[in-house]
Amino acid sequence: MKPAVLVSRAVFPDVVERLRAHFTVEDNPDDRIYTKAELIRRLAGKAGVFATGSERFDAEVLDANPQLKAVCNMAVGYNNIDVDACTARGVLCTNTPDVLTDTTADFGFALMMAAARRIAESEHYLRRGDWKKWSYDMFTGSDVHGATLGILGMGRIGQGIARRGAHGFGMNVIYHNRSRLAPEVEAECRARYVSKESLLRDADHLVLVLPYSQSSHHAIGAAELAQMKPSATLTNVARGGIVDDAALAQALAARQIAAAGLDVYEGEPALNPALLELPNVVLTPHIASATVATRRAMAGLAADNLIAALGFGPLAGKPPTPINPQVLQA
Ligand code: 8YV
Repeated sequence: MKPAVLVSRAVFPDVVERLRAHFTVEDNPDDRIYTKAELIRRLAGKAGVFATGSERFDAEVLDANPQLKAVCNMAVGYNNIDVDACTARGVLCTNTPDVLTDTTADFGFALMMAAARRIAESEHYLRRGDWKKWSYDMFTGSDVHGATLGILGMGRIGQGIARRGAHGFGMNVIYHNRSRLAPEVEAECRARYVSKESLLRDADHLVLVLPYSQSSHHAIGAAELAQMKPSATLTNVARGGIVDDAALAQALAARQIAAAGLDVYEGEPALNPALLELPNVVLTPHIASATVATRRAMAGLAADNLIAALGFGPLAGKPPTPINPQVLQA
């Protein structure tokens, strides 16, 4: 008998079909968001789950489903999974790194440019019919080329943004990270390691690309925003909760910083309503990895992981991108 798996959100039908070759699949073509109780109920009897960032896998969910062997996220971030709880129960977790790096770096750069050059704000002005004449200071923003690009969180995506800034736009790139990069990687990204204080103080454009955890919660709040230049922009393509959105809305309203670009929010898809009222913030609905090719690659990798984690396919027992590989050794 084939093992049963859950596909918790709607995904490319051919990916679901690929899973059906190995598993009895319960999918979610209507793309409903399950409550925790429903997730627990639907996981009953399932050996694995093809998951997305919108479901939370914690000890309660795992304990209600002791048969569960694998949680395979279609996302590089995995703050929706309690990995320690999974590891303690022998549940393998996987994510989808690498395949979305350049797409997400492209988007982070675009959002930063949109904030700096006031693209969304000026487009709304035009659509409202307010454009009557050219004027010397109409929507003057700040330059990206040659400016200082600050990156908080220098993993794969951070490095991708650094390369775009340094090599494509002649930017002076500074970064702060838990650990310093190897000298050859720093040289290739043309990025200089600085303290968080220097990063906040010196960046003309600050981009956040660090994973969410308790230690990165509100890494950017009122105190940090107060250290930034009044001409600076802040871009978040990492996770909601890294920025204190209420403090950011206040700083933007007071022009303590010039502008922001946000793809992620505390409590998304709900937004702090103050953000919606501000002209100097570009708001997008968590789409940094959203190109057709990249979403296909993410879904494909999540499926490869699930198939291999449950002992099928050419990679049986060796899922390509495990988060807690120690479970495989146990
Ligand atoms: C996903 C993301 O689209 O990969 C991530 O961590 O934030 C996005 O690329 C989202 O998490 C859906 O699972």
